[in-house]
Amino acid sequence: MSGESKTTISSKNVTVNYGRITALHDFSVDVPSGIVGLLGPNGAGKSTFIKAIVGLLEPASGRITIAGKDSRTEGDIIRDMIGYMPENDCLIDTFTAVELVSYMGQISGMRRMDAMPRSHEMLDFVGIGEERYRPISSYSTGMKQRVKLAQAIVHDPKILFLDEPTNGMDPQGREEMLNLVKKIRASDKSILVSTHILDDLEKISDHAIIINDGRLVTQGNLDTLLEGSESLRVVKVRGQSESMENFVRTLGTAFEVRDVTRESGQISAVILNSDDGNPIFKLSRECNVQLRAYYPHRATLEDVFVSAVEGKKQKGAV
Ligand SMILES: Nc1ncnc2c1ncn2[C@@H]1O[C@H](COP(=O)(O)OP(=O)(O)O)[C@@H](O)[C@H]1O
Ligand SMILES: [Mg+2]
Repeated sequence: MSGESKTTISSKNVTVNYGRITALHDFSVDVPSGIVGLLGPNGAGKSTFIKAIVGLLEPASGRITIAGKDSRTEGDIIRDMIGYMPENDCLIDTFTAVELVSYMGQISGMRRMDAMPRSHEMLDFVGIGEERYRPISSYSTGMKQRVKLAQAIVHDPKILFLDEPTNGMDPQGREEMLNLVKKIRASDKSILVSTHILDDLEKISDHAIIINDGRLVTQGNLDTLLEGSESLRVVKVRGQSESMENFVRTLGTAFEVRDVTRESGQISAVILNSDDGNPIFKLSRECNVQLRAYYPHRATLEDVFVSAVEGKKQKGAV
């Protein structure tokens, strides 16, 4: 049996409420080991799920276990095993990064004499240089994200929770953050990473848990999930605008057209077609437009949602 399929976290019928708002509805999922993406749009319930796992929120009902330990009764054991990078600021602004990370190490049970060198080591790892001796209040968002990661791993936890780790970072910073996550994974840790960005997830993980409206949409291998929407194709044509409009109209009689974008002298359409492109090549000739491109449409988070929901409908159909 491969390590990938081992369950690290199990959520059974978990419901979490904020007053009258239900943020997680009867949420059941088994999270395998490795890097697992928790993918969903803003407000989906990602942070709520992570907070419930790490013990910051108490579910109204249901049960969560981490490496077999019950979150309600074995919180102390769990706290030693896990690291948590919250979505929002968790840093004490007046501390320097070295102080903060070593302080967090001590809170997690390390001795001061061990926590201090470890703090330096972790700040080296995340790429915080001499700035580590400055108060965190003077840091950029990207630097704060790095320090948040350093404090999450200072006590060398086996299981990590990273809540939107690339939040507020520029493209280069994002890339670096994702590379750090991959490096951490190489040291044999399980990592649950929440994100609303499919692109980010594809760079680090094979396995995705997709959540929306506090409910599980689907989960599994990311490629397989994306394949569900693989039959979308992009068609780009050029020509006189009347001819192009005629092409698009006719295209719509033969295929399901999902999206049409008109640019100067060019039209792009996203169509549903799992067969070859011959009918489209033929149609473009008949309509006297020049076919500029015909290629698979890159799936978006929305496409994955649509195909997951359609898949469920088909399964449910009697
Ligand atoms: N402290 C809170 N009080 C009331 N509602 C909240 C609170 N935190 C989150 N929510 C609501 O719970 C839902 C899930 O939020 P959240 O878990 O933060 O989603 P995500 O992390 O996926 O963006 C949203 O509808 C959000 O508005
Ligand atoms: Mg969130």
